[in-house]
Amino acid sequence: MSKLQGKVALVTGGNSGIGLATAKEFHAQGAKVVISGRNRETLAVVEKELGEGVLTVPSNVSKLSDIDELMAQTKATFGNLDILFVNAGIVIQGMLGKVTEEDFDAVINTNFKGAFFTIQKALPLLNDGASIIINGSINAHMAIPGSSIYSASKAAIHSLSRSLSSELIERGIRVNTITIGPTETPILGSFSPEQYAAFKQHIGQRSPVKRLGTSEEIAKVALFLASSDSSFVVGSEIYAEGGMLFNRL
Ligand SMILES: NC(=O)c1ccc[n+]([C@@H]2O[C@H](COP(=O)([O-])OP(=O)(O)OC[C@H]3O[C@@H](n4cnc5c(N)ncnc54)[C@H](OP(=O)(O)O)[C@@H]3O)[C@@H](O)[C@H]2O)c1
Repeated sequence: MSKLQGKVALVTGGNSGIGLATAKEFHAQGAKVVISGRNRETLAVVEKELGEGVLTVPSNVSKLSDIDELMAQTKATFGNLDILFVNAGIVIQGMLGKVTEEDFDAVINTNFKGAFFTIQKALPLLNDGASIIINGSINAHMAIPGSSIYSASKAAIHSLSRSLSSELIERGIRVNTITIGPTETPILGSFSPEQYAAFKQHIGQRSPVKRLGTSEEIAKVALFLASSDSSFVVGSEIYAEGGMLFNRL
């Protein structure tokens, strides 16, 4: 059954990892999908793979003029939006003394400022009753050395999600967060092979499910929040993290 027939969805960072799997899931469920990202090559690959009902737009979420252009192209091609997946994000790790102003600005401008202005500029396009899904992280709730700016950027959007859920529900627009745990995606490519092996081993020991998640598993949660199946879910967090956050194994 197609859960999103007749709907229009926008996925920022829909050309890789969790965003890509979610864009595919939304499309398979009948939605027209707008996919943004900076990398024109991967955008072209997705557009070719998915075919009809897809618009890809090169767009940097940390540039407000790019977001304006993204919304203008969305409006011109598919009209208004029913679903917005605020997903684009980056990770930069580093202990406090090593973090540079460039690192700080890159993470905050992408993960927080980018999310904020994506939602603000999507607002005129969002139909009453639309669903906004924020890509959050267990890092927002954890104390992880070397993750201060990334974790703070995610904590900021968890807070934003709660504030906006109360502000936008007047129009029936639901805002919810997926609190995501370690998931196998290209974002982990910033690790060296040794760091990556150590990380996987750590997750294997620490996680109740003893593995990383997959992008497809997160996409199924996004589908639930995007569809009317979650019509009573407002301002919530859904934990998709293999039980890691609250389990002290
Ligand atoms: N993987 C995990 O373990 C995990 C856990 C918790 C939360 N998350 C969150 O999940 C989201 C997706 O990450 P992922 O794991 O799927 O990694 P990914 O495969 O690296 O995807 C990141 C996406 O964000 C886009 N992006 C990055 N900076 C952008 C910018 N300035 N403007 C527009 N798009 C931008 C990238 O496209 P371009 O490079 O083409 O711009 C890419 O499509 C992120 O917000 C991340 O924080 C991931």
